[in-house]
Amino acid sequence: MLIKKPSDVRPSEITPREVYQSRRQFIAGAGAALASASALALPSAWLDERGYRADDPIGEAMTPEADAKRYNNFYEFGTDKSDPAAYAHEMTIDPWAVKVDGLVKNEKTFGIEDLLSGIDMEERIYRLRCVEAWSMVIPWIGFPIKKLLDKVEPLGSAKYVAFETLFRSSEMRGTRSLFSSIDWPYVEGLRLDEANHPLAILAIGMYGDVLPNQNGAPIRLVVPWKYGFKSIKSIVRIRLTDKEPPTTWNLLQPSEYGFYANVNPTVDHPRWSQASERRLPSSLFDPNRIATRMFNGYEEVAPLYAGMNLRRRY
Ligand code: MTE
Repeated sequence: MLIKKPSDVRPSEITPREVYQSRRQFIAGAGAALASASALALPSAWLDERGYRADDPIGEAMTPEADAKRYNNFYEFGTDKSDPAAYAHEMTIDPWAVKVDGLVKNEKTFGIEDLLSGIDMEERIYRLRCVEAWSMVIPWIGFPIKKLLDKVEPLGSAKYVAFETLFRSSEMRGTRSLFSSIDWPYVEGLRLDEANHPLAILAIGMYGDVLPNQNGAPIRLVVPWKYGFKSIKSIVRIRLTDKEPPTTWNLLQPSEYGFYANVNPTVDHPRWSQASERRLPSSLFDPNRIATRMFNGYEEVAPLYAGMNLRRRY
């Protein structure tokens, strides 16, 4: 039996409920210990069963786990791809709370266990396409953002969702750098209808385990049809608003990074082409270059942008 699925998520992207049950049990059982990856480690049989080294259901090889966990963008810990894996462990993630406020009926600050309670976890295998023109295929564990928004009941006047990352400079060496031109905290946003799309998830795990800090523990956004910078990590606040919220990369360089940031091979970045991407792992001798697809291959989101000029609203 499949997890009851929204009509526009491909069945092949959803893990059967039986497989998921065990994951749910230990997430529920070890809720208080979410911070500790070892407390949530999956039985190795489960991993064998999933065969993470095998081809994934979207028909593209999954990125080896080690690559997804050591080649990261998380500027709070530095700008080098290896900085997050080296330094993100300095971030304390237990306890963790997420404030959900703004134009909602029930403003609330959720402890992480409270936030997850009553929500079924799903595995979603998604392509992640960075605006820098590299990509990966990652098995996330999470749930549609809509399930959290339903808990707080957005008001009719809410049109956008603003997200904010933890900002704790004592634990985030990248934010202390004199070279950092980012105005912390890292912020991102979606239109409410984008956030409500069943493909948009909040992830708490990857590769059958909790998220490592460098990938955005304990909870991050994953919006697979948009460039990776929209998928904000280590979220502490979600605010419903009636105005388009500011976003970090757009504030830094509006001519290069738009609010929408939908993956689009026909609209180049001012400094490089977006027509193709390096699927990681790749090397000088085996660049593994593939064509980039509209909406990163998630064409089912196209109706969200009907009538919009995607060249202008990049
Ligand atoms: N979130 C925060 N808070 N800080 C960041 O620097 N980088 C973004 C996004 N989320 C970033 C962030 C970018 S540019 C990308 S490509 C993805 O995270 C990378 O996610 P990954 O490291 O899990 O692959």
